[in-house]
Amino acid sequence: MSDTQSPEPKGAIARFLAASPDSVGKTIFIAVAVCLVASMIVSAAAVSLRPVQEANKLKDKQVNVLQVAGVYKPGINVTEAFAAFEPHVLELSTGDFVDDQFDPATFDDQAAANDPELSIALDDDPAGIGRKAKYRVIYLLRDDSGELDKVILPLHGYGLWSTLYGFIALENNGNDIYGLQFYQHGETPGLGAEVDNPRWKALWNGKKLRDDAGDLQITVAKTQPAAGADFYVDALAGATLTSVGVDNLVRFWMGDAGYGPFLAKLQAGDL
Ligand SMILES: Cc1cc2nc3c(=O)[nH]c(=O)nc-3n(C[C@H](O)[C@H](O)[C@H](O)COP(=O)(O)O)c2cc1C
Repeated sequence: MSDTQSPEPKGAIARFLAASPDSVGKTIFIAVAVCLVASMIVSAAAVSLRPVQEANKLKDKQVNVLQVAGVYKPGINVTEAFAAFEPHVLELSTGDFVDDQFDPATFDDQAAANDPELSIALDDDPAGIGRKAKYRVIYLLRDDSGELDKVILPLHGYGLWSTLYGFIALENNGNDIYGLQFYQHGETPGLGAEVDNPRWKALWNGKKLRDDAGDLQITVAKTQPAAGADFYVDALAGATLTSVGVDNLVRFWMGDAGYGPFLAKLQAGDL
């Protein structure tokens, strides 16, 4: 009688290959291999898409600058339209431009806010931002004759759930508000996220920051302050806490710790 049994495979690899497809070893091997391949694909996609994401983020910011200044139209060439805006790196404490120290085209003021050299920890922190960058990139918009038309200033602060990032556009007198809008926040749709509602955003147009005595009066509240309607934006219905956050952040950035020194120069016609 002949021996029909195949010899026992020798070596770990040979034993693995000879094992049944639904053996524990092969099942674990396939699961690990699938995970590895999938994670490599996801990582490669994340790395290769990063430049596209960065470009989209930049374009979104540029669209917001155009929108808050009232020059955005659907279908517009954003890069071309944005080129009309004059960026400057502003030193907040002095209100001076420091474009000789930092390149306005590349200076990242959000990153600067986390750099101990370029930022200050805030003791008095009504906007809930922790640290304030010493420098911010702002934009000037000039009319056809080269006269200053508007200034666009970035601002941010805490609402109810999130930090809201946006821009305020001021007329060339540094006191009249042309517009305010946020390009990033995590407030609740239908409640705090109504900061994006065009009807609410329109309330800001024509409001003033300071009264004739130079006191900062702009207020977001449920009732009109004594200073009067010129300084009053009605709070969002059902979203008082986000509204308080917006009130705090606008007053912080428009005040002495924010753009105050720069706005004083603007009001004095020093630009
Ligand atoms: C799920 C949930 C999400 C909320 N989101 C917000 C918000 O984004 N912003 C806000 O101010 N209030 C929000 N609120 C409501 C606040 O808790 C609070 O009731 C409200 O700000 C008070 O506003 P009112 O005085 O105008 O009613 C939310 C409430 C709930 C239950």
